[in-house]
Amino acid sequence: MDYKSLSQEQIQHFLDYGFIHLEGCFDPEFAKKSTSAAFDRLGYREDDPATWEQPIVHMPADSYVDVKEFAPKAYDAICDLLGGEDRVKTPVRWGDGYIINFKLGADRDWMAPSPEAGGWHKDGDFFWHFLDSPEQGLLVIVVWRDIAPKGGGTFLACDSVKPIAEYLNENRQGLHPFEGGFGNFITECTDFREVTAKVGDVIVMHPYTLHASSQNHSGKARFITNPPVALKEPMNFNRDDPADYSPVELAVLNALGVDRLDYQLEGERRRFDAKAYREARAREAKARESTT
Ligand SMILES: [Fe+2]
Repeated sequence: MDYKSLSQEQIQHFLDYGFIHLEGCFDPEFAKKSTSAAFDRLGYREDDPATWEQPIVHMPADSYVDVKEFAPKAYDAICDLLGGEDRVKTPVRWGDGYIINFKLGADRDWMAPSPEAGGWHKDGDFFWHFLDSPEQGLLVIVVWRDIAPKGGGTFLACDSVKPIAEYLNENRQGLHPFEGGFGNFITECTDFREVTAKVGDVIVMHPYTLHASSQNHSGKARFITNPPVALKEPMNFNRDDPADYSPVELAVLNALGVDRLDYQLEGERRRFDAKAYREARAREAKARESTT
C-alpha cells in the first residue's frame, strides 16, 4: 500500500504498538482560545482552581472544525492508517466537546498505569462490537493543552490489540459495548504507557486499544477530545490483493496470526443508545439505594 504521509517506520510502530504520536498538528493559539472559552462555558475561573468543582467534565460540543483543513497532518495519517481517503467516512470533524480532567484522583496517591489502576475499556459506546466494525475505525486523542507527567494523560495498553482481536473473532454474534467484558483482558497486557503531550499533538490508535483515564496530580486542567473516525464499509480481512490491507486491518491479521480471514457476521450490526443505557443504570442504582 502507498502511504500519503506516514513513513514505513511510523507504520511499523503502529503495527508493533497500536499507536502513532503526531506532533504539532494544529494551531496552538486556536486551542488556547477555545479551551479558555470552555472555562467560561462551565462558569469556572481559569486562574482559580478552587472554582473547579467537578474533578472531570465531559462537555457537549458547541462547534466543529473540518480536520482536513484544520489538521492536515493528522488527517493524512488517519487516511493512511485506514487504507486511503476513499475508505473514510468524510468529512472528519472535531468538536469542542472537551473531556477536561481537572483533578481526578488528586486526593489519592499516584497509581502508575497497570491493571490495578482500573478503568480500562475499549471505546465505542454507540454500537455493538464486531471484529470488522466500521463505526470506529480509529481511536484518536486530540491534545488541546499540554499534558505533563501525572497530569491526567490517558493510560494505554499497547499490547491489547491481540487479546481484543482474538476475543472479537471468537464472538462473532457481537459484543455489548458496556457489558462485553473487554476491560478484563487488561490482565493479559504488560506494555503500559502514560500519554504526555504538547498542545497540537494527536495520538492515533488502533480501535482495539484498551485505555483508561488517569489521575491528575499536576494542578493543571487537562483538555482532550476522543473523536472516533468511521469507515464507509466494515474492515475487510479477505482482500484479493494483500497490498490493499490497511494498517488497521493488518494489525488485526497479525494479532490473529493469519494472512487472511474469512470473517462472517453471526449477529446483527446495530447502533446502541448509550445515553438511555446510562440513565437506566442510574435509575436502578437509585432504586437500590432507596431500598437499603
Ligand atoms: Fe475511552
